[in-house]
Amino acid sequence: MAFVVTENCIKCKFTDCVDVCPVDCFHEGPNFLVIDPDECIDCTLCEPECPAGAIFSEDEVPAGQEQFVTLNAELSKVWPAITDVKDALPNAEDWNGKPDKLKLLER
Ligand code: SF4
Ligand code: F3S
Repeated sequence: MAFVVTENCIKCKFTDCVDVCPVDCFHEGPNFLVIDPDECIDCTLCEPECPAGAIFSEDEVPAGQEQFVTLNAELSKVWPAITDVKDALPNAEDWNGKPDKLKLLER
């Protein structure tokens, strides 16, 4: 079991989650973060920190977003780790809550 970053992180990337992870298991792409499921210890600390509400336990991922479980596992192996909070993406507040952002995911 692990925690999973889902669609609403895309084009927001607030990075508050990174600050609380005790095992540094977040990895960063151009406009999305993912969690390495092999490193996540299920501590739950990151979930309430995300202003976009994008982080869920693997067994609580919202219906229709199941593909993010695989995406986190795949992309965490190719994207670099991120251990420090940084500024959110420009217009993050505008993108927070917008639907259908998966097509905007940059790899
Ligand atoms: Fe890191 Fe804990 Fe979140 Fe897993 S649940 S990504 S270990 S903060
Ligand atoms: Fe993304 Fe939320 Fe972290 S928007 S970068 S999962 S704080």
